[in-house]
Amino acid sequence: MSTAISPTAYNYKVVRQFAIMTVVWGILGMGLGVFIASQLVWPQLNFDLPWTTFGRLRPLHTNLVIFAFGGCALFATSYYVVQRTCQTRLISDGLAAFTFWGWQAVIVGAIISLPLGYTTTKEYAELEWPIAILLAIVWVTYAVVFFGTIVKRKTKHIYVGNWFYGAFILVTAMLHIVNHASLPVNLFKSYSAYSGATDAMIQWWYGHNAVGFFLTTGFLGMMYYFVPKQAERPIYSYRLSIVHFWALITLYIWAGPHHLHYTALPDWAQSLGMAMSIILLAPSWGGMINGMMTLSGAWHKLRTDPILRFLVVSLAFYGMSTFEGPMMAIKTVNSLSHYTDWTIGHVHAGALGWVAMISIGALYHMIPKLFGRAQMHSVGLINTHFWLATIGTVLYIASMWVNGITQGLMWRAINDDGTLTYSFVEALQASHPGYIVRALGGAFFAAGMLFMAYNVWRTVRASDPAQAEAAAKIAVVGAH
Ligand code: HEM
Ligand code: HEM
Repeated sequence: MSTAISPTAYNYKVVRQFAIMTVVWGILGMGLGVFIASQLVWPQLNFDLPWTTFGRLRPLHTNLVIFAFGGCALFATSYYVVQRTCQTRLISDGLAAFTFWGWQAVIVGAIISLPLGYTTTKEYAELEWPIAILLAIVWVTYAVVFFGTIVKRKTKHIYVGNWFYGAFILVTAMLHIVNHASLPVNLFKSYSAYSGATDAMIQWWYGHNAVGFFLTTGFLGMMYYFVPKQAERPIYSYRLSIVHFWALITLYIWAGPHHLHYTALPDWAQSLGMAMSIILLAPSWGGMINGMMTLSGAWHKLRTDPILRFLVVSLAFYGMSTFEGPMMAIKTVNSLSHYTDWTIGHVHAGALGWVAMISIGALYHMIPKLFGRAQMHSVGLINTHFWLATIGTVLYIASMWVNGITQGLMWRAINDDGTLTYSFVEALQASHPGYIVRALGGAFFAAGMLFMAYNVWRTVRASDPAQAEAAAKIAVVGAH
């Protein structure tokens, strides 16, 4: 669908492109999640081929869900929000289009290179140097488009959602560039510029802040626009949003060492990471409470509005995972949880419950507006999606809690004579039922995405170009 480009209209084309690709990559990334979850139940699914083994497909899953699905959701919503809250068109259509095509090229690069076994071996930073350089160029362009649009805004204030998006863009650039410093030996292989414990520390400074800024701060930007919009209420407290913004970004950056407890990292650094992680509960819950309380006086809408349900339940999972995270950062707790499925459960409480659900809610809000429709093709299907996603997430997390604690306790159980009570294989056998439940939960969640795809397709097909063009017109007063 194309709309006549007019300087008095928002650039919705790039938003539409990113929004549609969010759904496409969501289905692929989560479908692959279900596949690798099934490999852990039925190892035969590795097919004895190098390209289809769990070890190669797992990083492809994480890259697809975080960078392809999550990334496209962040691009789509940030471009939408920054234009509407600044009441101005993106600073450059050409650069915005470059970020779209460049980002898709990075994803295709990941889909080809990871199954072939090309990897830096750094988690969430696996892409080899030529793709990593392209990613850096796209990201810097993204920063130019986003901040350039803020600079030419027609409004006096910079809406708080943009503060969160802005921090996410800046810090992600910094993390990616610093962690990817490496020495290429050929086109397909490079070695990290750092070594030993320093390399590990920089990698988890990156890794944790990928969580903190990519999977949290960016999505909080989304939350600050779409929750008030969908609830038709103002944000509960503007002051709280500013206070927890500064607290969040100041604290997150220190918490990385909680990924390296009981390693060669100096003990003081581990303890510092632990302390900062515990304090991080406060600003995290500040955001959660601010979002939840925005519904004051609008709670009744939850009965009839499944989009609002997606948004509110995502906040509940955000609150839950940011309570669980600080607990797991305590060294004694981590000595039980580390290496077990508890971590995987925690990850997906954040990833499915928070990141995916808030993105899905935001897309359902935004897509009809982008395509000139009053609402999505079917509200009933949104409701079906909501229940599949919620039940799927709960099955995933609960099974991983049971598995994680079982594994942790079995691994540390010791007989009177000091020998281990259980062999590793016994702990693996005890985990098998949990793996089945997790695969089922994942299948529920992924099935919900198929309902979404159908609903989006029907909405787009029925789209009215004239209405879409009218909706993209920049209203001069009180537009956002
Ligand atoms: C249908 C939904 C999904 C299923 C079935 C699924 C399944 C899995 C499986 C089986 C693993 C490997 C676990 C292991 O090594 O033991 C995994 C890892 C991971 N997944 Fe998912 N996933 C899903 C959705 C998502 C989404 C939406 C995100 C992010 C937005 C995500 C982020 C991750 C991350 C970060 C890891 C690595 C965790 C770690 O290393 O601790 N997943 N997933
Ligand atoms: C206050 C907030 C949070 C804190 C303090 C925290 C803390 C932790 C801790 C202690 C671990 C386990 C490290 C280990 O034993 O290896 C962990 C792992 C992880 N968390 Fe969180 N967490 C928080 C929020 C979140 C959220 C909201 C998400 C997702 C959106 C998330 C995603 C992850 C991922 C992906 C990992 C696995 C990293 C890996 O080993 O590959 N966390 N977190």
